[in-house]
Amino acid sequence: MRRRVTIAVALALTCGLAAGIAYTQGTSWLRGTTDQQLKTLADIQPGLGTVMMEYGARFTNAYYAAKGGNWDLAAYMIDEMKEIQEVGETTRPARAPLLKAFESNYLDRLEAAAKAKNWSQYQSLAPQVINACNQCHVKTQHAYVVYQLPPTPPAPLKTSR
Ligand code: HEC
Repeated sequence: MRRRVTIAVALALTCGLAAGIAYTQGTSWLRGTTDQQLKTLADIQPGLGTVMMEYGARFTNAYYAAKGGNWDLAAYMIDEMKEIQEVGETTRPARAPLLKAFESNYLDRLEAAAKAKNWSQYQSLAPQVINACNQCHVKTQHAYVVYQLPPTPPAPLKTSR
C-alpha cells in the first residue's frame, strides 16, 4: 500500500515537472534582458492595419444587427469598436487624435441611435459614418482603402432578434 502511494507521488511529481518544462519551453522564444523582452513584446502588438480589420468587421456586424432589430448586438459591436480603437491609439499615438474625434463625432451618435432602437436614425447616419471612415483613410495616406458595406455581415451571429 505504502509502495503504491510512493509510486503515485513519484508519478505526480514527474507529471508536474514535465508540465513545468513544457511551460518554460512555451516562452523560450522570449529572450534577453527584461528590457529586451519588453521590446520584443511591444514590437508584436497590433498596429492600425490589424485593428482596422476588426473595426470594419464590427462596424458591418453592427449595421446588420441594427437592421435586424438586434439592438443589443449592435450596441455591443460599437462598444467593441471603441475598445479595439484604444489599441490603435496606444500603438499608433500619432493617429489617436483622429480616432478620438471619429469616436465622439460618429461612433457615439451611432451608438445613441442603437440604444434608442431607432433604425431610421441609424440608417441615415450610416453613410455619413462610412464617409468619415474613408475621409480618415485619405487623411492618413491610405486613400486606396475604401470601406464599403458588404451585402452580408461577416459574423457567424444571429443579427435578428
Ligand atoms: C484614424 C483615422 C481612421 C479612421 C477614423 C478609420 N480608419 Fe480605417 N484605416 C486607417 C488607416 C491608417 C488604415 C491603414 C492601416 C495601416 O496602417 O496599415 C486603415 C485601414 C482600414 C481597413 C483595411 C484593413 C486591412 O488591412 O485589411 C479597413 C477595413 C478599415 N480601415 C475600415 C474602417 C472603417 C469601417 C472605419 C469607420 C467605421 C474606419 N476604418 C475608420 C485609418 C482610419
